[in-house]
Amino acid sequence: MTQHQLPKGFLWGGAVAAHQVEGGWNQGGKGISIADVLTGGAHGVDRVITDNIQQDSYYPNHQAVEFYSHYKQDIALFAEMGFKCFRTSIAWTRIFPNGDEATPNEAGLQFYDDLFDELLKYNIEPVITLSHFEMPWHLVKEYGGWKNRQVVDFFVKYSEVVMRRYQHKVKYWMTFNEINNQRDYKVPLFGYCCSGVIFNQEPNPEECMYQVLHHQFVASAQVVKLGHAINPAFKIGCMIATIPLYPFSCNPDDVMYAQEAMHHRFLFSDVQVRGYYPAYALLEWQRKGFHIDMQPQDAEILREGCVDYIGLSYYMSNAVSAHTKGNTDAITGFEGNVVNPYVKASDWGWQIDPVGLRYSLNILYERYQKPLFIVENGFGAIDKIGTDGKINDDYRIEYLKTHIEQMKKAVTYDGVELMGYTPWGCLDCVSFTTGQYDKRYGFIYVDKHDDGTGTMERSKKVSFDWYRQVIASNGEIL
Ligand code: BG6
Repeated sequence: MTQHQLPKGFLWGGAVAAHQVEGGWNQGGKGISIADVLTGGAHGVDRVITDNIQQDSYYPNHQAVEFYSHYKQDIALFAEMGFKCFRTSIAWTRIFPNGDEATPNEAGLQFYDDLFDELLKYNIEPVITLSHFEMPWHLVKEYGGWKNRQVVDFFVKYSEVVMRRYQHKVKYWMTFNEINNQRDYKVPLFGYCCSGVIFNQEPNPEECMYQVLHHQFVASAQVVKLGHAINPAFKIGCMIATIPLYPFSCNPDDVMYAQEAMHHRFLFSDVQVRGYYPAYALLEWQRKGFHIDMQPQDAEILREGCVDYIGLSYYMSNAVSAHTKGNTDAITGFEGNVVNPYVKASDWGWQIDPVGLRYSLNILYERYQKPLFIVENGFGAIDKIGTDGKINDDYRIEYLKTHIEQMKKAVTYDGVELMGYTPWGCLDCVSFTTGQYDKRYGFIYVDKHDDGTGTMERSKKVSFDWYRQVIASNGEIL
């Protein structure tokens, strides 16, 4: 087999998530989502998870970048760049404002009908995440979030409603965004956004995290099976934050420690792709004395709900050393994390490693032989408007170019089956980890700032035309 180029029909596009772009947090009958109770933070300043909405707190996701009212204008710009697909999520709270209602909210359903129609008008395929760091706040307050098995049924019901409604408009789905973030259960934001649970407030945080995960694995599998019954042409994936943890040295202790650390990252795709728990996880639970509640039918549900593809985000690699075992890194939450002297880092400490992308694609493809889809990759930076009025984001072009080069090698040299590439935050949006506007990823600049100023006006950065050319040449001109 020789393949010199990316396949025809490769899904070039861009990615965002509902709560980071839409705004309109209380419009169209939408309920309060967990993203609506997160205050703004900054690099080194944690976002606070408040109890309900507090009058004197600042919540950037309430307004976000007003995609809810600007989506037609934004989609026209995506079309101008030549997007083949656009990844976003559905805000669960637009469909079921509290999560436990008997019937869905028609205004919310209509909003996504209109949004998908607008995309399809330009032949842009919607790629939809069912839960991207969002769930109804009511389900957290009244039910305890994903600790409670009842939430599985609420999620399956919500997913069934939207998959039936959009079965002729949406083909590509993912269940939970970066489901593995909550493995870093010591970081409150990660647990809260993935499952509505702050693990370190629980008597046994780690055991609780695995219980939550079991519920989400069962929910995801049920949704995959149901989705295939609704429309056999659906492609339904998992979504994993892919951060390879390199051994810091060739000392066998470091190598073994890195492999153990990678188990904690692979667990998520192992269960969702293969349909059963790997032995290393069951043995770990045994050693630690964890009891995870499972129902008799769960093993069969997991087996019958294997995903069709692996969606992944890739921003950085990390390195771990057996000698720093037990230390938790403030940024990533990884234990044993050490700075890799061979790579540089962004202003937010994210280590930039294009080769790590090729390495990760190979590791995942060798492990599963399932199609992969890079649904996030990108460079968060502070953009400045030059004296000529232009936003010259050549650092972003450099980051994306070097990553696309490695992605192409994975496909054309290593033979990895890759469905597409959707860089994160194609439209500037609110940062997830810090809640900032000024940490930007977009090809499209949004005039909105952390001090509250800005008009929400959209403009093209220099990377806009660069990416248009990349897509037009199917990745040949970088
Ligand atoms: C991923 C998330 O973790 O990284 C996105 O899926 C997020 O929601 C993206 O925005 C970039 O992170 P940040 O914190 O720079 O916005």
